[in-house]
Amino acid sequence: MNTLASLPLSSWETIRWRAPALEILDQRELPHTLQYIRCLNAIEVAEAIRHMAIRGAPAIGCAAAFGVALEAIRLQEQPNFFNLLELGFTHLAKSRPTAVNLFWALKQMRDCLDSHTLLPPFEITAALLKKAQDLLASDLRLNHCLGDHGATLLKTGARVLTHCNAGALATAGHGTALGVIRSAVNAGKKISVYADETRPWLQGARLTSWELQQSAIPVTLIVDSAAGYLMSLGQIDAVIVGADRISANADVANKIGTYTVAVLARRHGIPFYVAAPLSTIDLTIASGREIPIEQRNGEELTGYGGIRWAPEGINLLNPAFDVTPAELVSALITERGVIHSPNEKKLRAFVMKPD
Ligand code: MRU
Repeated sequence: MNTLASLPLSSWETIRWRAPALEILDQRELPHTLQYIRCLNAIEVAEAIRHMAIRGAPAIGCAAAFGVALEAIRLQEQPNFFNLLELGFTHLAKSRPTAVNLFWALKQMRDCLDSHTLLPPFEITAALLKKAQDLLASDLRLNHCLGDHGATLLKTGARVLTHCNAGALATAGHGTALGVIRSAVNAGKKISVYADETRPWLQGARLTSWELQQSAIPVTLIVDSAAGYLMSLGQIDAVIVGADRISANADVANKIGTYTVAVLARRHGIPFYVAAPLSTIDLTIASGREIPIEQRNGEELTGYGGIRWAPEGINLLNPAFDVTPAELVSALITERGVIHSPNEKKLRAFVMKPD
């Protein structure tokens, strides 16, 4: 276990393959401790996702893909390989409901499995492991593309508000919302960031603040409820957030509190950008109303780190995500380019367009 002082981005990885295990940076321990969890099968990966050791839509998709590969490795000599592997898919699909990237990645793994079924299990396993590694590498590549597209929207000197963590920690690296910021900084622009602390899990306070600090990008932590005040003072030039699922009509599910920020941005005439890979778009879902919203344990609201501040017996409600209607989204930033004022027609045309 390493204790952190100041670490460049290159000195840690959100998720990495170290045969025979998948190593996951335990985000519950950040920013105090850099500690990896070693997973050897689908159940261990599903538990790491469910309990937020790894979180962020693209990152949990990558983890789930490796979960399938690990399960295949574990089962490759079993006579009922296919049936048992199916249980692995089921465990992983039940780990968290909202981020569609998880289901997208499982579908990629299923397609890989289906196209190799005539081969012996050890060859299928090798193909599944390679697929998971390809998905991880491609997520990193596409975040750089997405970041470069989004960077064109930011002027030098921009003060950007972000909510939750859509950074390297939420992806294979570079990030989506924070990827845009990183790309702008890499292009020589002076950018500073306000990070909403993001109650109750504190992804902003613990993760976004930490990873931007590691990259020497100026970041100021604020309580979630300070965003409107800063906007009213003219201190925010743009908002950029990530997404967990985008419906066909371009409604955006993201961390609870995102909708509030979007409403505030519209009230103050500030552009509200959503940065997400195409794998976050779910054309099978017509509108945000149909997106399954994870309800987490209410105990997350009653205290933190062993300290309880809410009275015993209090009623608790803890939705982990909300939905921002498409009309509040100024632009959707993807690896293929930017869609201004996204709507169903533009989204479908964009997703169907060949590369
Ligand atoms: O509950 P979390 O931490 O998994 O929620 C993460 C978010 O809401 C992110 O903004 C989203 O997944 C995009 S990550 C690139």
